[in-house]
Amino acid sequence: MKKREFLVSSVGIGAVLPAISAVAASEKAVSADEEIKGLFRVNPYLQNVSETEVTVMWMTRTTCFSWVEWGETKELGNATQSIVDGQVTANNTLNKITISGLEPGTSYFYRIYSREIIEYNPYKVKWGATEKSAVLSFTTPHVKSDSLNCIFFNDIHDRLQTFNALLDQVKGFDHDLSIFNGDCFNDPRSEEHVYPLLDAYGQGVRAAERPVIYLRGNHEIRGSYSRQWPSVGSNPGGKQYFAMRRGPIQFIFMDCGEDKPDSHQAYSGLNDFEGFHREQAGWLEKEIEKPEFKNAKYRVLVHHIPIYGLNEKKYNPWKSLWGPAMNRAGFDISFHGHTHRAVIHPPMTAGEHNFPVIIGGGPTMDNGTLTLLQADATELTVKLVGTDGRCIATHTVPART
Ligand SMILES: [Fe+2]
Repeated sequence: MKKREFLVSSVGIGAVLPAISAVAASEKAVSADEEIKGLFRVNPYLQNVSETEVTVMWMTRTTCFSWVEWGETKELGNATQSIVDGQVTANNTLNKITISGLEPGTSYFYRIYSREIIEYNPYKVKWGATEKSAVLSFTTPHVKSDSLNCIFFNDIHDRLQTFNALLDQVKGFDHDLSIFNGDCFNDPRSEEHVYPLLDAYGQGVRAAERPVIYLRGNHEIRGSYSRQWPSVGSNPGGKQYFAMRRGPIQFIFMDCGEDKPDSHQAYSGLNDFEGFHREQAGWLEKEIEKPEFKNAKYRVLVHHIPIYGLNEKKYNPWKSLWGPAMNRAGFDISFHGHTHRAVIHPPMTAGEHNFPVIIGGGPTMDNGTLTLLQADATELTVKLVGTDGRCIATHTVPART
């Protein structure tokens, strides 16, 4: 859409005040004919929903000032904007607004707003119209919750036909969290490439109301936009590897990097994943000693490239570097993709994995899979489902007592 097609008359600067309390008031000053549609390029999606915090992300088609209104009722009543070093974030298109001070296990309502900035001059901002979303809602997790339902996608490789067929299989499954476990963005090359996918994935999994996690596979780190790609998400701790507690599950997410050595000519000397692997090895050793890991009902490991169940001839530096700690940790189950062949490897001993290894399928209608995880007070069940709804494999592990 061209800018002028959705512009209506601008209002005075006094109608949008930077103070948080005044931001809510400003909405009243924007009359109905100054509201527009089509400003949102990527609809809102929830990132890093913890017991006390949520990050709301969205992208606009043109530069804006954006904010979130929220509250425990549909009347909202609070407003939050992003402030960096004394400046209210504005004249931008990628929005990442964090609401803090929330209560665990509590439902909240929210609505996003973006107001177009037509011109940004010293002493004079020329405002355009405002777009707002519907009133949406989310629920913060609670460490005392006994249950969690997750859906995993992997290796979609931009194929929305496969994604949509898998989405059909989510129907009837009330998920709390979605996880895209790598290679869902195939060699990201631009905003024009990434944003429509982000919007399709986010809307598909209802990410405006249920948090979503986008993890890197080896393909997210290949394209010309790969160094910008992490900015479209917000993980706990701000890194591509992290731990988080959601209800009865302590998750450990790791990032394998590329599937060939840094010295391979394909990477032009621009990767140092070997250093990144060592950094994560040290981090993993500490994470598995923490009380939140040890006292969880389930310990779940997630990374894109499987280090067990991989062809013996494949590059696999992770097995010797991470494997001993992973086996010592007492993981209950792990989730992966990459091979494009769905399979569940039961636990093995003798230098291999002592936890079940779940590997999702590939990007085609024939080999694509959805992984459903359902955890309650007594057991965690995993089901791999094909695009046509057929059950490919299941596995169940008991809760720790
Ligand atoms: Fe992969």
